[in-house]
Amino acid sequence: MIKKINLLIVVVLFFSVQHGISQEWLVPADKQNVKNPLEYNLENVKKGKEIFMRECKSCHGEPGKNNALALTPAPPDIASSKMQKNSEGEMFYKISTGKGIMPSFKATLSENERWLLVNYFMNFNPKKSPVLVVAPPIKATLSGRVDAGKKLVTVFAEFKNKKGEQEKLTETPVNICIERAFGNLPVGQVITNNNGAADFKIPNNLIGDEEGFVTFVVSLGEGFDAKKVVLGKAKVGTPKETPKLIRKGVIWSTNDNIPMWMLLSYLGAIGGAWITIGYVVFQIMRIKGMSKG
Ligand code: HEC
Repeated sequence: MIKKINLLIVVVLFFSVQHGISQEWLVPADKQNVKNPLEYNLENVKKGKEIFMRECKSCHGEPGKNNALALTPAPPDIASSKMQKNSEGEMFYKISTGKGIMPSFKATLSENERWLLVNYFMNFNPKKSPVLVVAPPIKATLSGRVDAGKKLVTVFAEFKNKKGEQEKLTETPVNICIERAFGNLPVGQVITNNNGAADFKIPNNLIGDEEGFVTFVVSLGEGFDAKKVVLGKAKVGTPKETPKLIRKGVIWSTNDNIPMWMLLSYLGAIGGAWITIGYVVFQIMRIKGMSKG
């Protein structure tokens, strides 16, 4: 009898463990065939992409690139068959409820946003034709100059057309950044005109280095294969104020700047040390005196 119970426990355990480690993610039957209330079109797919890039890309990686975060179980690439064999209803359910590391988005994303995500996923479905086709990046080159007198940054953008000729890159946003110790700080964006040129008016309150020099870096956005270009330094900023206390290599450059607590604890420590040495010397003398007498 006891043996039989043992066997039963083993069998039950075996199946429950099996169930636990199996990667099967079951969706209740009534949720599987829920229809997407939103139309599958470019606008909705684009909106879904925006949410995906913000909320999901960090784990799932970019579609079709198999660059998901190394987790166990792995977050499937959304273009993969593992993801695409889900029905739209199943996708919506899984996004809403989550499982293990996969967060539940019921509270953080509205129902509408979750369906927009499903629309974006459908862009990679083998049974549907994609509405959002990402063109390969355009090879482009940037150049520019800084006019300190007019307080103007002028950028020029060109690209290689299909015939391999350089052509002006028109109506394209160019990002303007300034170099900082921690990286590049965006300060604005300009759109190129029919000549592939654009002007950026340098704001008056821009902080430069100690002497007011600012280094501009210009770049193109997504869809372009273009190097960032560092324009020369120009004296167009307000000089950065260096705090009086922190001069190069010196903590307190003059005695006037020392905080009172630090002066007192310094004097206290030094004084204490001298008093201790004095006391020890005094005691030694006393011992010497006693041994003589
Ligand atoms: C913290 C990392 C993480 C984030 C963020 C994340 N996921 Fe996941 N996702 C996972 C993991 C891990 C799995 C696999 C879970 C499993 O199979 O147990 C998964 C699975 C899924 C699945 C089910 C795939 C299947 O096998 O059927 C869907 C659908 C999904 N994620 C959508 C999303 C969407 C949409 C977002 C953003 C709103 C998102 N995920 C954000 C980690 C993440």
